[in-house]
Amino acid sequence: MTRSGALAEEIVVRPEALHPLPDGGAAEVAASFRANYLTALYALSARASLCAGEQLLVLGAAGGTGIAAVQIGKLLGARVIAAASTPDKRAFALAHGADAVIDYTQTGWRDTLKELTGGHGADVIFDPVGGEISVQAFRSIAWRGRHLVVGFAAGAIPALPFNLPLLKGGALLGVDLAQIPLREPDVQKRLMLQLTGWLADGQLKPVVGRVFALGDFREAFRTMQTRGALGKMVVRIST
Ligand SMILES: NC(=O)c1ccc[n+]([C@@H]2O[C@H](COP(=O)([O-])OP(=O)(O)OC[C@H]3O[C@@H](n4cnc5c(N)ncnc54)[C@H](OP(=O)(O)O)[C@@H]3O)[C@@H](O)[C@H]2O)c1
Repeated sequence: MTRSGALAEEIVVRPEALHPLPDGGAAEVAASFRANYLTALYALSARASLCAGEQLLVLGAAGGTGIAAVQIGKLLGARVIAAASTPDKRAFALAHGADAVIDYTQTGWRDTLKELTGGHGADVIFDPVGGEISVQAFRSIAWRGRHLVVGFAAGAIPALPFNLPLLKGGALLGVDLAQIPLREPDVQKRLMLQLTGWLADGQLKPVVGRVFALGDFREAFRTMQTRGALGKMVVRIST
């Protein structure tokens, strides 16, 4: 796993960038696996302490990190509500284990969330989207809820009014995959063991989105930028 430079036939990386995976896995699965699933497990488990029976709202749920959070949320025993912008994306989230879905492009989506959570709100919010949706989601967080700041796919970095965490007893928690091996190497080791265990015993099947040839890498980026991606986009370096 590397933050940049991966679109190459050869690359030099630090030893901790490497992790052995169970035998027999396809390269596309390996490529889809580590960044998204480690981000999701670190966020939900190490940061938010998501408990079995809690209600998890995943924004951008059909994207690379979002669909990983849906699957990991289920493995941790949460009830998962997946928010996504199109019927295809919501069907994709349901097919990967979400318990319920929401179209968060509709103005009344927070009312739907309230109904789906029995008036309780989301205990944990996994947020790789940013923008105005983030602030709206925080307004629907449960008492003592935890909102995970994962990314800003929508482009805008939201500003949260400070009265909201006060009123909700809520917490905003940052997640930065790049810093885990540097600041919390033991946590990373433990989480990778957990992930590879789930992978080996078949409980976790990483979602491979579209696979592109190396020469088509621009198309892979375009797919993400135009909001067209389902799961993780993979570029195959050689056949
Ligand atoms: N903090 C970390 O450690 C960490 C780790 C990995 C990734 N990230 C960051 O997290 C973000 C999401 O990564 P990802 O791999 O999940 O991306 P992705 O596969 O492209 O998914 C992002 C989702 O955001 C939603 N979205 C809303 N507005 C969008 C817009 N204007 N353009 C594109 N997508 C939009 C889309 O869902 P809908 O169409 O359903 O709204 C899309 O499925 C990125 O900013 C990435 O850099 C952070």
